Amino acid sequence: MSQRTPLTRFLIEAERAGQMTPELRLLIEVVARACKSISNAISKGALGGVLGDAGTGNVQGEAQKKLDVLSNEILLEANAWGGHLAGIASEEMEEPHPIPDAYPKGNFLLLFDPLDGSSNIDVNVSVGTIFSVLRCPDGVTEPATEHFLQPGTAQVAAGYTIYGPSTVLVLTVGHGTHAFTLDRELGTFILTQRDIRVPEDTQEYAINASNQRHWDAHVQRYIGDLLAGKTGPRGKDFNTRWIASMVADVHRIMTRGGTFMYPADAKCREKGGRLRLMYEANPMAFLVEQAGGAATTGTQRMMEVTPTGLHMRVPVILGSKNEVAQFERYARED
Ligand code: AHG
Ligand code: MN
Ligand code: MN
Repeated sequence: MSQRTPLTRFLIEAERAGQMTPELRLLIEVVARACKSISNAISKGALGGVLGDAGTGNVQGEAQKKLDVLSNEILLEANAWGGHLAGIASEEMEEPHPIPDAYPKGNFLLLFDPLDGSSNIDVNVSVGTIFSVLRCPDGVTEPATEHFLQPGTAQVAAGYTIYGPSTVLVLTVGHGTHAFTLDRELGTFILTQRDIRVPEDTQEYAINASNQRHWDAHVQRYIGDLLAGKTGPRGKDFNTRWIASMVADVHRIMTRGGTFMYPADAKCREKGGRLRLMYEANPMAFLVEQAGGAATTGTQRMMEVTPTGLHMRVPVILGSKNEVAQFERYARED
């Protein structure tokens, strides 16, 4: 029988190889367990009574879905008592969430988008959870917003779980990017791809084209040249894929390459962009870079952006390295 590597074994071996501490291993196990609960809730769909609006709004001014709220609660509860965290921040909460006094505190800060792509939940399209792990600064026991505001390069781990036809956890602790598929009978994540490599070149891209009239000139030119295809300046045909779940779009890139773009445009420039740096762009940038891809704002490496707020938004261009570099060339011309 071919040997399967459960997530636990993978993490223990990574710990033995000096790639993580037992505390980080526990943190990842706990997040993975929470993702299993979220996966269960999502897969019940209408039968579980989990679809539809929660009737509340979040700090982003967005209407929350029932599953946004539930996923946030599952992640908070799972991470409260393990003793591995000093604090938690979430897309769904304005301020950092303290670890209850009843429990010991650890050295890590956990940030997450509990459910990404939630506009897709009710139509049964893939959604996901994104998370990022930072170190709590020395001597800080009650972390405040300022302690979370560290650049992406400071991340010690990042990952996402995609709830699709299968549930897949994609993880990095800074030694490559690896994928684990949930065996639903066993309730165990099993290593299904070690050292994912994102192809450097691609002919596939993802962007919300309905924003075209709001795009900057360089985005107009860049996408125009892709659309011109074989007889245009790029000399090849390109294909569009847009799921509107960042997790699902990034997972496609992890699987077969491509680019994902949410540039700043006239519609969202005031806010800085559409996607959030701390729990969407940075963890995805870490995962994509560890798989040999690139992630940028168009003018700066994503992981070097200095965060100015927990919910700060940024332009995002990530994926196949050479195509991301092409976008940056166009951005420099403006
Ligand atoms: P969230 O559901 O966590 O708010 O994130 C949604 C994000 C991302 O998943 C997706 O790429 C993007 O928003 C889609 O935005 P629009 O469809 O509004 O353009
Ligand atoms: Mn999101
Ligand atoms: Mn979300």
